[in-house]
Amino acid sequence: MSKKIFSGVQPTGNLHLGNYLGAIKNFVELNNDDANECIFCVVDLHAITIKQDPKELKKNIRETVATFVASGIDPKKSIIFNQSGVAAHSEFAWILSCVARMGWLNRMTQFKEKAGKDKEKASIGLYSYPVLMAADILLYDATHVPVGDDQKQHLELCRDIAQKFNNDFGVENFLKVPEPLIQKVFSRIMSLKDGSKKMSKSELSDLSRINLTDDEDQIITKIKKAKTDPLLMPKDIKELEGRPEAQNLIGIYTSLNNSTFETSIKKYAGKNFSDFKNELSEVVVSKIIPISKEIKKLLEDNSFLDSILLDGVERANKIASKKIKNIKEIVGF
Ligand code: TYM
Repeated sequence: MSKKIFSGVQPTGNLHLGNYLGAIKNFVELNNDDANECIFCVVDLHAITIKQDPKELKKNIRETVATFVASGIDPKKSIIFNQSGVAAHSEFAWILSCVARMGWLNRMTQFKEKAGKDKEKASIGLYSYPVLMAADILLYDATHVPVGDDQKQHLELCRDIAQKFNNDFGVENFLKVPEPLIQKVFSRIMSLKDGSKKMSKSELSDLSRINLTDDEDQIITKIKKAKTDPLLMPKDIKELEGRPEAQNLIGIYTSLNNSTFETSIKKYAGKNFSDFKNELSEVVVSKIIPISKEIKKLLEDNSFLDSILLDGVERANKIASKKIKNIKEIVGF
């Protein structure tokens, strides 16, 4: 079945193995299937919900494009563009913020995590961020949205917003209710330093994540220093219970090899973690280093990266401007 794919990544620097395994690897597979129409967005409007240095932001936008291309997304086939280049995203987000309910947004766990204890000081954008995300998706009639597990709640909200808009304005099926596409094997990559925390760009310790721009030595060191427990490698899935660090490392290994937990566990049952870590390093290096080298090469050619965005903005605008015109008509503008 042909799918209309939409997904986004924030250009906030430090794209890591979690972004790759949770999202970008899936983007590449969807891009490679000729039946799909794919749109991959560098969500720069989302990035400014937290204070950004303008120079860094510009650099990070290009780095995100470079990461998409270096990972294997073909910018001729798929649309790669930056959100702020298409005005309809902001316009539609405002309209949808008059459809979405406070009660719905109050339930969003990511806002609570990101705002931390001092909610009063968080930007309004950080709070309404999932509404902008819904606008992104619904503008393009996306049928499927590949994301990591942490975005699941935002996608459920997007589905609710779409249904409410259709009901409120009596336009059945006008906004398409999208399906999330979340990796089945391992959709939440955890910190290398704490198996109960998500691998994240914002974590202070660089040792907690493998960045997609890390070199071989950095990857080997980070895996060597990754937290484990004093037990031997598990003999079966049951023995993984209550061992989040072991589960995370085996999950990363399994996901990079497109394998299953059962196969990975069988291979290392009862062995020392150090043996497993050596092989894990080899796998991570063999998958990530070619991407890391390509990102660095692409970053030397800003005009090439900018031309991808310009072309993407033009193609995305063609779709989005038609949809927003109909939306405005429906709303009564
Ligand atoms: P962002 O930029 O935080 O993350 C980009 C993608 O990477 C996934 N991800 C992870 N997956 C597994 N394990 C992890 N530790 C991990 N960390 C990040 C995220 O789930 C995401 O798929 N709101 C979104 C961006 C967005 C978007 C959209 C996505 C804006 N508009 C429309 C889909 C559709 C975000 O902040 O992702």
